[in-house]
Amino acid sequence: LNYEVRRERSYILQVLFNGLRRLEYRGYDSAGISIDSFVDSSPSIPLVFRREGNIESLVKSVYQEVDRTGLNLEESFSIHAGIAHTRWATHGEPSPLNCHPQSSGAGNDFLVVHNGVVTNYQVLKKTLIRHGFTFESETDTEVIPKLAKYVFDRSSEEGGEMVTFSQVVLEVMRHLEGAYALIFKSRHYPNELIACKRGSPLLLGVKEFNDDSGNGSAFDAKFPSMNGNPKELFLSSDANAVVEHTKKVLVIEDGEVVHLKDGGVSIMKFDCEKEKHGKVLARPASVQRALSVLEMEVEQINKGKYEHYMQKEIHEQPESLTTTMRGRLIRGGSCKAKNVLLGGLKDHLKTIRRSRRIVFIGCGTSYNAALAARPILEELSGIPVTMEVASDLVDRQGPIYREDTAVFVSQSGETADTLQALHYALENGALCVGITNTVGSEIARNTHCGIHINAGCEIGVASTKAYTSQIVVMAMMALAVGGDAISSQERREAIIDGLFDLPNKVREVLKLDNEMKDLAQLLIAEQSLLVFGRGYNYATALEGALKVKEVALMHSEGILAGEMKHGPLALVDENLPIVVIATHDACFSKQQSVIQQLHARKGRLIVMCSEGDAAAACPGSSCRVIEVPRVEDCLQPVVNVVPLQLLAYHLTVLRGHNVDQPRNLAKSVTTQ
Ligand code: G6P
Repeated sequence: LNYEVRRERSYILQVLFNGLRRLEYRGYDSAGISIDSFVDSSPSIPLVFRREGNIESLVKSVYQEVDRTGLNLEESFSIHAGIAHTRWATHGEPSPLNCHPQSSGAGNDFLVVHNGVVTNYQVLKKTLIRHGFTFESETDTEVIPKLAKYVFDRSSEEGGEMVTFSQVVLEVMRHLEGAYALIFKSRHYPNELIACKRGSPLLLGVKEFNDDSGNGSAFDAKFPSMNGNPKELFLSSDANAVVEHTKKVLVIEDGEVVHLKDGGVSIMKFDCEKEKHGKVLARPASVQRALSVLEMEVEQINKGKYEHYMQKEIHEQPESLTTTMRGRLIRGGSCKAKNVLLGGLKDHLKTIRRSRRIVFIGCGTSYNAALAARPILEELSGIPVTMEVASDLVDRQGPIYREDTAVFVSQSGETADTLQALHYALENGALCVGITNTVGSEIARNTHCGIHINAGCEIGVASTKAYTSQIVVMAMMALAVGGDAISSQERREAIIDGLFDLPNKVREVLKLDNEMKDLAQLLIAEQSLLVFGRGYNYATALEGALKVKEVALMHSEGILAGEMKHGPLALVDENLPIVVIATHDACFSKQQSVIQQLHARKGRLIVMCSEGDAAAACPGSSCRVIEVPRVEDCLQPVVNVVPLQLLAYHLTVLRGHNVDQPRNLAKSVTTQ
């Protein structure tokens, strides 16, 4: 940060704290920061602050310390390099000692923030202990700064020229296994930062103060000085933390090492695999790429008139669905045929149509979205479609063949389990298709082709608008893969009409907000909630239950209604609330008998049915009804999930839990 340009009080702290706030949804059990302290105009030991709890507790403690010690952060430097981290615990409970930055020890010679998991940390730890290092945390990360110190000290002992910061980092990278995005700061290299990555996301943001064009420009990664242009440079695992400063970014690739020095930046490429067994330090090639421009507005990551991100994201679904479909559906005009155009798939449609099967792979809500789309893809393509939870596919090393099309569904495009499954499918020669909400994400970049869902930034940890946009994208994919056979023309046209009208139907169903709040009030003290669905809406049952479980912290289970008699019926009594999804489709009469059977056992029923179907769906007056607008059957899950999202939201608020940051969860699970 150039202080010639910005002189506000503790600007460095403000930038780092705001960045952390933007990233908080990715992890929020503890946080830390490191900035420089200068004594008598010369760099001293970097200051490190680490706190358990959310970011605001870190902010408070840092400002208290600044006030207590009278630190003057602004006047001391012209350039300042700081690092910060918000954590989602993997190794070691949330505690100040386990927070990042992790340190090489007293003196803070090297400090590291890390996103990912170092899988060989135990071996490295043993070696470092043999060399006299002592460890204070339970984290895998602590080996990294200690290894850096070991490398630095050994080079200094050997005499000669002082080793450069990048040489230290390259040598450290050579020994690390697993996934990481790292930023290093060091007492020995004030005003410098080094970042590197392998498998975890990282991007560089560049803000030049006399260039407001916002356009991507050819970026000479080796500009040695400020070129007369004052700059601020940002490194982050997520564009959210950067977009309020600049839209010009460079997505950092695996093996790249980014060196910020004296306000300039240089990027080198390091082949981790090749160098691992080499004896000499790498001589990496320098990298030059064009900056890209984020298509993201700061407003997108603000709450606007809403109290919570989840609430905002539920209510903006009519707009997010419209954006998802924009330019992709054709109806009427000069082109009479109704059709769908998916640019990211068009060159691969033939291969997909020839595949032996299509495998959907995802985790959490993304898996549920794929499950909702499975029947229509099977119907229109005639190709068998199977489902895989990403971690389970990897655990089993389940069969994936060259003749398969593997579709990876992920809002973030960074989920570690899904990524691992992707690498596995690539190794096995399958055609890999990505469906993500994040342009430039690992999944988007590593698949052969794909579709962006364009739902806009989703910040609430519980996915809502991404879910509905994913279903719509996969319905469009079914139309594209299905081709234009005469036999299915009527059905296809009805789906396309349904898609055009879907945002309006979602707008209508959102009017149930108050009704869902009343229902939440009624259920506030319950221990458990079952949700029964089948056919297109088995996924809705799973997803509705997942929402209630993850944010309202109430036990909830989605149940395939066809399996009711094989176990779940034993739970039914007059106390346990049960939502039965019985909107109008081919399964309606079967769901009517499920309702009858539950009613006969005095089940406490809440029935979701199509408008006008209440009498047909509900026996007697004892059950509560949620009437939703009727749409084409394969699109009905998009409408049906909305009341359940609203129910989960209101239950959470009424029960006094954190809506956007549910206990123990994170938005992007980038570790396994
Ligand atoms: C986490 C999130 C979920 C999400 C899942 C998959 O568990 O809390 O909301 O559905 O990861 O994430 P992805 O980004 O791959 O869709």
